[in-house]
Amino acid sequence: GSFDRVVRGGVVVTGSDTVRADVGITGETITAIGLDLATDGAEVIDAGGLLVLPGGVDPHCHIEQLDPDGSSYEDSFAQASAACFAGGTTSVITFAAQFKGQRLGPVLAEYHRRAAQGMVDYSFHQIINDPFYAVVQEDIPEVVASGVRSLKVFLTYDDVRIDDRQYLRVLAAARRAGAIVTVHAENYDAIGWLTEALLKAGMTAPKYHAWARPTVIEREATHRAIALAELVDQPIQIFHVSGPEPAHEIAAAQDRGLKVWGETCPQYLVLDAADMDRPGFEGAKFVCSPAPRGQAESDGLWQAIRAGTIDIISSDHSGHSFYKEGIGKQRNGTDAPFTRIPNGVPGLAARMPIIFSEGVSKGRIDLQTFVRLTSLNAAKLFGLYPRKGTIAPGADADLVLWDPTRKVTITNNLMQHAIDYTPYEGLEVTGWPQITIARGRVVMQDGVVTAEPGSAKFLARGPYDLIRPRGVLPNGFDASAIMI
Ligand code: URP
Ligand code: ZN
Ligand code: ZN
Ligand code: ZN
Repeated sequence: GSFDRVVRGGVVVTGSDTVRADVGITGETITAIGLDLATDGAEVIDAGGLLVLPGGVDPHCHIEQLDPDGSSYEDSFAQASAACFAGGTTSVITFAAQFKGQRLGPVLAEYHRRAAQGMVDYSFHQIINDPFYAVVQEDIPEVVASGVRSLKVFLTYDDVRIDDRQYLRVLAAARRAGAIVTVHAENYDAIGWLTEALLKAGMTAPKYHAWARPTVIEREATHRAIALAELVDQPIQIFHVSGPEPAHEIAAAQDRGLKVWGETCPQYLVLDAADMDRPGFEGAKFVCSPAPRGQAESDGLWQAIRAGTIDIISSDHSGHSFYKEGIGKQRNGTDAPFTRIPNGVPGLAARMPIIFSEGVSKGRIDLQTFVRLTSLNAAKLFGLYPRKGTIAPGADADLVLWDPTRKVTITNNLMQHAIDYTPYEGLEVTGWPQITIARGRVVMQDGVVTAEPGSAKFLARGPYDLIRPRGVLPNGFDASAIMI
């Protein structure tokens, strides 16, 4: 026979098509798509009644990432990989975090060492916390040339935020090197000012996390992040857009022809501010930044998704357990003020089922849009396409065989991460991954993950057109060409 494996009898869905077809796999690669492929000598994987989707690409998740205070996100790469495969995701872009004073080379090498111990294919966004001269002049070009073709910056958070002048330095360095910049956009000083007032007024419970960072703070920073990127003529993506106000800033920029993209996450579609007001310290489970908001915001996000303003949904998976003492959400005790609760929610395995259920099953988006949001668009924006993000001859055989009618109540044990809770506990979804195939091998079947730790591959990303600057500069003067 000509194939090692044939996925037979399913409905193949890509970002552009839905067709009944078999998928032929040779080694790690898709080699044919067509009706009634020859199966002699091949292992047949029965996809009858199932959708055959490109494996998910989750381009924003925090795995084994260190914080400046010495703490770490809890999941190992192996544990996070199991969660990915359980939820239909086969590629991730995670983070290599620079702290102040550090050169990038050893930082990136350490994250490579960690990620190689997992099973899920990976790349990195290089976080820049300190764009001093040697970093800008030597390190960023080297990191990008090594295939890490995206930089990430925080405009807020103590210890890791950069100011506008530093942000401009990063944008300019990215432009010279040919990388995209991803941005956490909230106004640091406004959050600091509101937080000071809240704490002084004794308003310290988890729900006040949201009060310290209302939408206007995100809208302003989104506007500013875009304006400064326009000044440098540098493509950017705005991370975790929480509602229509920042989405409108992105839409306005796109309307003017700027290369600005937006991402959102399931937490902004199915959680809300009231979750942070649950009894006791339970609200800490939902503390993430930006903060979950309300029904109007999630409705507005779906509109922005349908309009194409927001074209990627990531998990922003952040592994902080809730029940363990001394680490995670309770590391500073159960009456810690909201400022001392680690930010972020876990969601690697929940991402695709929630988007499928809330999107496709509830009639908000079609199947092709689901594939674009969860796989294709991230592969394209971050230079992984056409190896990842689609089902086509020559692409890696990363597939998820999806049961569109299966009803599941989300519980933490289904998530397969190292975290002891999920913010989506009890959420009912329609649609669930039944088999995940990564580079030609079945790595998850009926919830059982079988991949070998250490089977992950680094996805080096070469130059690509989508993130090329437009060549439009105020006065035509390219300040980024001058090394400062
Ligand atoms: O609250 C969040 N999102 N924590 C993770 C880090 C980040 O800001 O993306
Ligand atoms: Zn962020
Ligand atoms: Zn604006
Ligand atoms: Zn994040």
